[in-house]
Amino acid sequence: MIYKKILVVFGTRPEALKMIPLLKKLSEEKSIFNIKVCVTAQHRGMLDQVLDIFDVLPDYDLDLMSKNQTLSSITNKILTGIDSVLSDFKPDIVLVHGDTTTTFAVSLACFYNKIQIGHVEAGLRTFNLNSPWPEEFNRQITSKIANIHFAPTNESRNNLIKERINSKNIIVTGNTIIDTLYLALKKIKNEKLDLKFKKEFPFGFKKKIILITAHRRENFGKGFINICNSLEQLSKKYNNINFIYPVHLNPNVKKIVEQKLSNIKNVYLIKPLNYLQFIFLMSESFIIMTDSGGVQEEAPSLNIPVLVMRDTTERPEAVSFGKVKLVGTNVNKIICEVTNLIEDINYYKSFIKNINPYGDGTASKKIVKFLKLKKHVSK
Ligand code: UD1
Ligand code: UDP
Repeated sequence: MIYKKILVVFGTRPEALKMIPLLKKLSEEKSIFNIKVCVTAQHRGMLDQVLDIFDVLPDYDLDLMSKNQTLSSITNKILTGIDSVLSDFKPDIVLVHGDTTTTFAVSLACFYNKIQIGHVEAGLRTFNLNSPWPEEFNRQITSKIANIHFAPTNESRNNLIKERINSKNIIVTGNTIIDTLYLALKKIKNEKLDLKFKKEFPFGFKKKIILITAHRRENFGKGFINICNSLEQLSKKYNNINFIYPVHLNPNVKKIVEQKLSNIKNVYLIKPLNYLQFIFLMSESFIIMTDSGGVQEEAPSLNIPVLVMRDTTERPEAVSFGKVKLVGTNVNKIICEVTNLIEDINYYKSFIKNINPYGDGTASKKIVKFLKLKKHVSK
């Protein structure tokens, strides 16, 4: 099998961020590949923010997002919408990313149409279908039907081998988000954007910054109430620190966060930042508190300690390196962990090591090299 016609599909902010460096590398090989991009727009605003920053104009746009969409409605709209894209372009292979509903539904449509699937960021697992929910299901099913698995680490490769995936179809590449991160850091430096951003933000940089992101569905309800209660108490305990929270646009997140954390002087609830602004803010932060997947991968390169407000992680590598700590969503536990990092300089320093297990910025290059091979073993 030779891959000439490649369709790259994504729908949410993190998928876009992680597929764009690959898209850029594929585009350097126009004499070999005919590439088209389809966005489901499972996210609309947050996806467009990424497309704008990286100058990407999709060939197909399913434009499916609706306010407070359900998992079934997104799945339904993707299955209906993607069929005409597949029959119009007739790709040799479709590249999907990660574990969203876009990933799962597009893969299912490819499987039904007997079109090959290349899965980028394959093999991440918690082996708990309820955490992260529904992502663990989405990625397990995608692995079951994908033909090529681009695994970011050896750990993710091993997870796939345990699921009896043929090792010939697994390529360890590193995570493409590190490619994106390097592109962003270079742009910030070359265009001196740090000075511009510092003037634009509604808070200063004299005080220490704790940066927060949280959006996971399994944290809705009690988990989010706990996260907000912890932040409320921490911001009162440490009024010499600014707590900056770019709030995810999901109404289930916005409602509770705004209810609980508006009107605290040193808590800044701001709109989602564009990627360059966000990376700059990460690099200026003292601590990052998050339940995000991508942030766990980026922060180790910036050497910022990360506390993950989840009970499980499919990214155990940085935890075992001591750069990321899983703290769950218990109020006392979160407060205790943040306090330890603030009060104990030696403990803080133990997070700082110049190593990132998620890659060196060459993941997209490795994926393209593989796709260029003249012969691929079929599944
Ligand atoms: C989705 C993914 C999750 C990923 C996350 C990244 C699934 C099931 N979930 O979760 O794996 O970690 O994206 O952020 O695929 N909204 C907007 N504008 C936007 C984006 C979202 O208004 O640009 C609002 C809409 O009301 C939308 C809601 O957020 O209905 C939820 O979006 P959805 O993609 O269904 O779920 P996320 O929680 O964002
Ligand atoms: N991010 C961003 N702006 C923000 C918050 C996050 O660009 O205001 C980036 C972040 O750098 C990371 C990605 O978005 O690469 C993470 O997205 P999210 O947390 O929504 O999804 P997850 O990674 O958990 O699937």
